[in-house]
Amino acid sequence: MTPRWPATVIAVAASILAASLAFAQGAAKADAAKGQSIVAQVCVACHGNDGNSPLAANPVLAGQYAGYTLKQLGNFKAQDGKPAERPNAIMAGMVASLSAEDMRNLAAYFEAQKPAPRAARDPQLVKLGQSIYRGGIAERGVAACTACHGPTGAGIPAQFPRLAGQHAEYTAAQLKAFRSGERRNDPARMMRSVTERLTDREIAALADYISGLR
Ligand code: HEC
Ligand code: HEC
Repeated sequence: MTPRWPATVIAVAASILAASLAFAQGAAKADAAKGQSIVAQVCVACHGNDGNSPLAANPVLAGQYAGYTLKQLGNFKAQDGKPAERPNAIMAGMVASLSAEDMRNLAAYFEAQKPAPRAARDPQLVKLGQSIYRGGIAERGVAACTACHGPTGAGIPAQFPRLAGQHAEYTAAQLKAFRSGERRNDPARMMRSVTERLTDREIAALADYISGLR
């Protein structure tokens, strides 16, 4: 039996989705050209000119939904005396000097870039990754990733991020950060509850499988 996500969580997800539509409309008026000039001066060193980052520790941003990117940029900032919901020393430094408008422009620029395809590496691991991605793990109550990120990893705009073609090292690091609770910016604990019962090997398998999705 395929594990089902509880109706309450789906309802919460739907309301988040509705809120993020309003968010995305704001982003539609964003100026991608202004975003590009910030990328060329600041972000290029780690994320590449078009968001296809050359190093596996730095996420690919090309093709990511603007609403999701905008939310992450905000989450890297410590606000109102509270620590950042997504603590990261490097990105905290990067967002410190960005205005809300800069963030919208950057998010629009990255959404318009084309992600480069990538290939999975270990055929055995990929089989395990595919099985969890599509079907979850029923006996441990792990939900299928397909439910929220789509069968091809394209995500669902704007709150459920695109995963396809992401560097495996980055994906694995994020899954572990959700599992330990270090990253806690997932609405309704969606990712923390999915990852809490995954082993390191299952995380490696998912990350490898996802890198080959396109
Ligand atoms: C010195 C390297 C470096 C620079 C420069 C840099 N980043 Fe990052 N960025 C990172 C790393 C490393 C992460 C992963 C953080 C983590 O592990 O949570 C990241 C994560 C992100 C994410 C989250 C992506 C996701 O899929 O959740 C966004 C968005 C982002 N960076 C945007 C930017 C923007 C915009 C700039 C320029 C203003 C920038 N970064 C400059 C290293 C960098
Ligand atoms: C109930 C919905 C749901 C399910 C099921 C789900 N996810 Fe997610 N996932 C999310 C949401 C929402 C986010 C964005 C959190 C945020 O706003 O930062 C996310 C974020 C992520 C990220 C971070 C992306 C980035 O660029 O940093 C990864 C990786 C990920 N999910 C992988 C998975 C995998 C692998 C599975 C299956 C084992 C899975 N997800 C199942 C909702 C879900």
